[in-house]
Amino acid sequence: MRKPHRLLGNVTLWSVLFLCCLVLQQSPLAHAQSDLSGYWVLHVPNGDGTVRDTYFELKEDGESITGTILGRGPNPIPVSGTLKDGKLHFATVPPANATPSRPFRQMSYEGTYQDGKLSLQTQNFRRETLQGVAERTTREATLPPARLPLPALHDLPDNGLVRTPPMGWNSWNKFAGKVDDAAVRSMADAIVSTGMSKLGYIYINIDDTWQDKRDAEGNIVPNRKFPDMKALADYVHSKGLKIGIYSSPGPKTCALYEGSFGHEVQDAKTYAGWGIDYLKYDLCSARTMYNSTQDDLQGLYQKMGEALQETHRPIVYSLCQYGEADVWKWGTRTGGNLWRTTGDIRDEWESMDRIGFSQLEIASYTRPGHWNDPDMLEIGNGGMNADEYRTHMSLWSLLAAPLMAGNDLRSMTDETKSILMNADVISIDQDTAAKPVQLLTQQEKVEILDRPLHDGSVAVGLFNRGDTPASGTFAWDSLKLPGKKFKVMDLWKHEPVTPSAGSFTATIPPHGVVLLKVSAGHAK
Ligand code: GLA
Repeated sequence: MRKPHRLLGNVTLWSVLFLCCLVLQQSPLAHAQSDLSGYWVLHVPNGDGTVRDTYFELKEDGESITGTILGRGPNPIPVSGTLKDGKLHFATVPPANATPSRPFRQMSYEGTYQDGKLSLQTQNFRRETLQGVAERTTREATLPPARLPLPALHDLPDNGLVRTPPMGWNSWNKFAGKVDDAAVRSMADAIVSTGMSKLGYIYINIDDTWQDKRDAEGNIVPNRKFPDMKALADYVHSKGLKIGIYSSPGPKTCALYEGSFGHEVQDAKTYAGWGIDYLKYDLCSARTMYNSTQDDLQGLYQKMGEALQETHRPIVYSLCQYGEADVWKWGTRTGGNLWRTTGDIRDEWESMDRIGFSQLEIASYTRPGHWNDPDMLEIGNGGMNADEYRTHMSLWSLLAAPLMAGNDLRSMTDETKSILMNADVISIDQDTAAKPVQLLTQQEKVEILDRPLHDGSVAVGLFNRGDTPASGTFAWDSLKLPGKKFKVMDLWKHEPVTPSAGSFTATIPPHGVVLLKVSAGHAK
């Protein structure tokens, strides 16, 4: 047999080796060798000139990836997944204690590893797909900044604002990160043209995602969605309305935009200079640095409360820390006008029902100027039916909750308008006596709530929390009204009800409500 040519043999050998290297470089093995273990920061552009940074710690073991997302809250969120054929996939792991009141929303990340960087695709909480690049970082970079000392606690004076629950519109539920100057202006236009402002809806509140960075002097600068905040505030004021804004006591807001940490006084002055009338102050990243104790939380909120009062501009102060440390017992002391009592509402029956009916036991903490806030309205956003939205409006009004519409006011159906703009229901919410709602009686899935009003009448809501029609009954004398004759109005049918002797009975649609106003005296 002929021997192979020596040189050719060598060339073949080298080619084979070279090809092997090439193949190896592209092969899963090569990726497996590129250990992803360590700390990473994922940069995702928000589409408004700002970038959201999320920190991870990953551990690679064969094809398995485990780790945590850091910096979102007091507890790192575990993730797990795989690295197979160069493709990385990991997702947040459901916590063992996920319950309806602690709902779990999975976040997933997919992508590839190349040249020391991870290209990852993820979604925001609205399920919009976002593309980002993660690079290696150090453990130190993932840690929150050191706490700043908190002020000694003392009680701030009442600012005299919102003697009835604040009403208006907030951008978050419908727009989230998509809110911009044009949307806010058009919402101000719509709140006037629909007639909502005449009914009391006067605050136009910008929620998270308006911020960019701080300038050289440390002043907060809005991002490109809000080119001129002062001009926007002037426009909203020119319509006879008021304007609100949003920040956090932490370094980052919940959507990971710039917070007020260490800049409280400066930010309060900036807001006052723009002409801001309302601040929602959301705990977010401050949770990673301070404890969930009354001392820490009251100190954090007092800091901004004091800074707002020192501006001498009347600014409604809305605390948002999801009810931690029983905020309803001390929120007033920080200068707070309202305080969120729960986690975030979603445009779903389960969420609204659970949040709304959990408020009864703390209803006695509301009083003029200081309100429990079970979160903003979802009416008109499409996730519930008209009966459910009528329940939402009725329940929030009986609770004397802030009425912050969270829908697109420019394109409301007549049905949505009829719910948000029911003047009789609004007048229960705005009742000047601000007496607490109470449970009159419960009949299986039907809960009957009543609330005494300033004119001696009583609002009564018969709520069917069940999935099938149900009837509810209450005795007239259980309302403790004087006399035996009553004047009764059905506030959703907009018609008087002729009171039957002894008691009232109604059939209520699933998840629906019958809402009455009952006064002593003869029916007309
Ligand atoms: C938190 C609040 C919401 C909203 C978002 C914005 O989740 O509870 O109401 O303000 O932050 O990021």
